[in-house]
Formats: sequence, structure tokens, C-alpha cells
Amino acid sequence: MTNMDAYWMPFTANRQFKANPRMLVSAKDMHFTSDDNRSILDGTAGLWCVNAGHARETIAEAVKQQVLRLDYSPAFQMGHPGAFELAERLVKMIPGNFDRVFFTNSGSESVETALKIAIAYHRVKGEGTRQRLIGRERGYHGVGFGGISVGGIGTNRKYFGSLLTGVDHLSHTHNLEHNAFSRKQPEWGAHLADELERIVALHDASNIAAVIVEPVAGSTGVLIPPKGYLERLRAICDKYGILLIFDEVITGFGRLGSSFATEYFGVVPDIVTAAKGITNGTVPMGAVFVKEGIYDAFMNAPENAIELFHGYTYSGHPLACAAALATLDIYEEERLFERADKMAGYWENAVHSLNGVRHVIDVRNLGLVAGIELESIAGKPGKRAFDCFLQCYEKGLLIRTTGDIIVLSPPLIIEKEHIDRIVEILTGVLQEME
Ligand SMILES: Cc1ncc(COP(=O)(O)O)c(C=O)c1O
Repeated sequence: MTNMDAYWMPFTANRQFKANPRMLVSAKDMHFTSDDNRSILDGTAGLWCVNAGHARETIAEAVKQQVLRLDYSPAFQMGHPGAFELAERLVKMIPGNFDRVFFTNSGSESVETALKIAIAYHRVKGEGTRQRLIGRERGYHGVGFGGISVGGIGTNRKYFGSLLTGVDHLSHTHNLEHNAFSRKQPEWGAHLADELERIVALHDASNIAAVIVEPVAGSTGVLIPPKGYLERLRAICDKYGILLIFDEVITGFGRLGSSFATEYFGVVPDIVTAAKGITNGTVPMGAVFVKEGIYDAFMNAPENAIELFHGYTYSGHPLACAAALATLDIYEEERLFERADKMAGYWENAVHSLNGVRHVIDVRNLGLVAGIELESIAGKPGKRAFDCFLQCYEKGLLIRTTGDIIVLSPPLIIEKEHIDRIVEILTGVLQEME
């Protein structure tokens, strides 16, 4: 066995892992294979990214051909056809009036990019005082300094100093007393969007650049927006000229049974961040969509001058573009977003059958996402769900947990028998667990 000391693993209990490793060595469609040759059902699409299932041959072939044809081309002041083709396809795919896309390499970079574009946009329009950013408690927007500043997960913030200044937060919408065991969008909580009015009154709209939220908060344990909530946020942003950013890093590319959450909810923000499912998780890539007018506002500088001083060596990397184009082909040819939508009803009934199972205090769902909240062990928050994760893995199922919440987000190619198996394993583990 390889010495495991050198690798500092991300968002991982390193000592626990290294004492008892969980190694995956291959994957196909709905399953991983572990190094002890067990088949592990993927209940999480990797990390919300392998939407079309694992090891898709057309993606592999496209990447192989691309690396042999053009392995890399400088991202600054140079171009390659794949990036333009992909951008064109993406803006056609997302509903609403988005007309430009900026490429990044991850969700975190997409968030940093979106926040920077928002602030710079107001400045190039002559409203340079609009610099404040508004996030939401329990929000997850990746791990850059911008993202953790607007994010609202305490542990992700507390070790890292003073963060960005000029940030404020809306309350989160999670409330078990009102909304436990809601199916799809809960009834209670739209009024929480009105807090934005209070924040505007405090800071003044002339100082606020943007509000950023996940339409469905994923990493914090699946918080589904209450009915009417996103609409109200949109209306208040419109009223005050504040840009609304939807962080669709997990909700993009079919997760809710529609292309993006903006389509599902019928609420159109000004900027959308994406990543993960864009390449089916094969090659790192992210994207930021901006609505009509934002790009144009930057085009005032002399024609030979750079308009936006931002970008990455690997923005629009040829391999990522090839992987993304092949991924979009699969999504379209297999109508995977529609498929997810059709499967969502079966999924909903299956996960809600966990209502009444030992330790379960809430089940919430939308599209092919579910959150199952467990009662915490007194004095040991997170332990019960983590034990559940370990036991599920032993029984051949990969789930994710955050605090005492189990989060499920399987590949969109999931079959009913896989859904049954997920629920069966979870039920068995939970019933036997202390
Ligand atoms: C909503 C959201 N934004 C941003 C990110 C960060 O993405 P990455 O890990 O690719 O940087 C994530 C990752 O889970 C996410 O869920």
C-alpha cells in the first residue's frame, strides 16, 4: 500500500481516513469499484458532478482526440475554436437573456469571477460606490476569500481571518418547526427575503453591488427555497438596481430536472455561476453567465485595451471544452434533464419513505436531490451522520453528509432499482444505528 502521509486531503478527516482508507479505483455508470473490489453505488454523482454517470466513452474519446490535436492554447490574447463553440452552445442552453459566458476551472473560481464582475460592472457604469456584497447564512460558495465571505458556513469562515469587508448576510430559510417533511418547495418562509429591504435600508442601495444565493442550497444540507422566496429576492433587487447572482454550481445541468434552477423556478438572475456537471466531472471547468448588457458595459475602453482584468491560465482549457461539448451532447441525446424530471416523483416517494425511520427528523427533496436530517447525538454534532456514511460505504453505498444531514444527489441516469437500493441500505443502517 502506498504511503499515505504526504497527501493533505481536502475537506476530509485526514487521520480517520488514513487509519481506515476508502479508496476508489474505477467507476462505470452508477457504480464505483473500491480497492477491495466491491461495487459502490454512487448516491452523490461524485460530488454533484457526474450527472451523466461515470466513464462515458464519448467524453473520454473527445478528450483524447483534443489532447492529441491541441493540448493547450494560451487563454489570454489567443483563442481556440472549442471555447467559442462551447460558449455559444451554453448561452443557447440556459433560459433567460444571458448572452456571454466567462470560463473558469471550478465553482469557487466561478464565484470569485461573478463577484468581481458585479463590482466592476457597477464601476464601469459610473456607480463605483456599489461594492457591498450580500450573501446568506448557511450559503456555500466555494472556498475563495470572496466565496467564504459571502458564504454562511461558520466552520468554513472562522479560521481565515477578517475576510472581505462590506459583506452582509440574509437569514437562511431552514426551519423544521414550520417545514419538516415538506415535499419540494416548503410553504413557509418567503417573507425571509424581505430582510433584503432591511439590509438595503441599513447600507443604502447605492452601496450594494450584488446579492448571491444558491437557488437550492446544497452543501449546507439541502435547503429548498420556500415558495415565493426567490421571486421576492428578484423583485427587491430590481427595485434597487442590485445584481442577483444565482450560484448554480450544483443546480446547473439537470439536477432539478431542468437545465438550470433559473428554468425550474422561473426566476431569472443577472449572473449565474456554474461548474461540476458542465464536464460531467471529467475535466475541471466552471462558467459564469452574464445577462445582456453586462458585457457591453465593459466595452467602452479603447479597442486594443483589455476590458476585464481577470482570467485564469486555464480559462476555457481545450480539454475542458472538449469534455464539456461531449457532455452537452450526451445531455441532449439522452434527454437527461427530462429523464431526471420524470424520475423525480419516484425519488420523492422513495426518500420520503424514510419518514418514521429511526433518527430521521426531516426529509426534503427537489429534482434528484434529497436531504435527510438526523437527530444529533447530544454533545457530538455530526457523529451520527458520519457513522451512517461509514456504514453505508461498508454496505456498498456512497452518500455525503454535512453536520447530521445526509445529502443525496445521484447521477441523472439512475434507475428505479438503484433508488430502491439507496433507500433500503439507508433504512437498514439507520434502524440499527445508535
Ligand atoms: C453552490 C456551490 N458553489 C461553489 C462550489 C465550489 O465549487 P468547487 O469545489 O468546484 O470550487 C460548490 C461546491 O460544492 C457549490 O456547491
